[in-house]
Amino acid sequence: MQNYRRDFPIFTHTHYINSCAYGALSHQVEASYGAYLSCRNARGADWMGWVERHERVRERFAQLVGAKTDEMAVTTSASAALSSLISSFDFSGKRNRVVTTDQAFPTEAQNWHAQTARGGDVVHAREQDDGQLDLEHLAELVDERTLLVAVPLVCYRHGALNDIAAICKIAHDAGALMLVDGYQGLGAVPFDVRDLDVDFAIGGALKYLLGSAGIGFLYVREVLIESLYPLQTGWFAQADIHAMKIHANEPAPNARRFEQGTPSVPALYAAEAGLDYVLNVGVASIRAHVMALNAALKKGVVALGGSLASPVKDTHHGPMVAIRSTDDHQLVAALEAEHIITSCRDGNLRVSAHFYNNMDDIEVVLAALEKNRTLLA
Ligand SMILES: Cc1ncc(COP(=O)(O)O)c(C=O)c1O
Repeated sequence: MQNYRRDFPIFTHTHYINSCAYGALSHQVEASYGAYLSCRNARGADWMGWVERHERVRERFAQLVGAKTDEMAVTTSASAALSSLISSFDFSGKRNRVVTTDQAFPTEAQNWHAQTARGGDVVHAREQDDGQLDLEHLAELVDERTLLVAVPLVCYRHGALNDIAAICKIAHDAGALMLVDGYQGLGAVPFDVRDLDVDFAIGGALKYLLGSAGIGFLYVREVLIESLYPLQTGWFAQADIHAMKIHANEPAPNARRFEQGTPSVPALYAAEAGLDYVLNVGVASIRAHVMALNAALKKGVVALGGSLASPVKDTHHGPMVAIRSTDDHQLVAALEAEHIITSCRDGNLRVSAHFYNNMDDIEVVLAALEKNRTLLA
């Protein structure tokens, strides 16, 4: 892997290994934010240019997940993408069940549980002790009552990577739809909606895609779009944004119907530059590079007498490795004192490498963990 670190100023003073929380800021993204401010100073407003940028971000998200541009909505968060999609579902019929999982990011599960007010029946597939989803349990929950199965690509707590193709098959065999929350993997784990046979996917730009807060996306399989009528809508979702009609709601024929109001314009600048960077490096080579770093990290943790909350096998977890701790917040603070930035959830330290990390970062993390051995569980 080429040395990309010179594009990321944070590495001049810090071992940043926390892309599961926020990607590192590149010169390119910073320059793109600068271009937004220059545009504001020069012209005040450039709505035509900003709408074009919105379309370029849509194209790049589509390229990232192997979808058509018309299958992508660009939203202000993954939550906005999900709630717009959900507003088009009907929970009053025979298929009112949503099978989510105990690995769901809160915003995903909360959005499903909110549907119980509309007749939804929400159940959770559990995970096994090794962090992997219990697919037998999931299959037991999926039946002729199931509208949709929702799983994360990678769990935000411990990094387990799900077998999306296998879960899609379980869903589709029962006539149910399948949604993937790709946020914790996209940009670091190859993900192709056609190869995997996914119906819906959500995600956002700020983690491994190196963009910023304020941008999410929704992928909707083309054949499903016209049958879905979002009740949560707005002028950017209309067939003709410029028509300014106030006596009718006319949703766009493509996935743009799941958008709502004014996009987060500064975040579009960051998202475009971040996506360009990641697409240029290539997700398959990112995956290979990060797997090699993580193999060394996991070996080192075990050698120190620590234990992993992530599944042990390299192919069973995404870019993040979760390490059990007796006090995860104290461990994050102890590492920060050594200029190492990580994060924690659920009692575990999360170390999340990307293409800009190297073996030196791993060695520095392991040396700091050795110093703080008493905080390893
Ligand atoms: C798996 C997953 N989904 C969703 C989100 C957040 O989504 P939103 O863009 O709605 O804040 C996160 C953020 O950490 C996440 O890890």
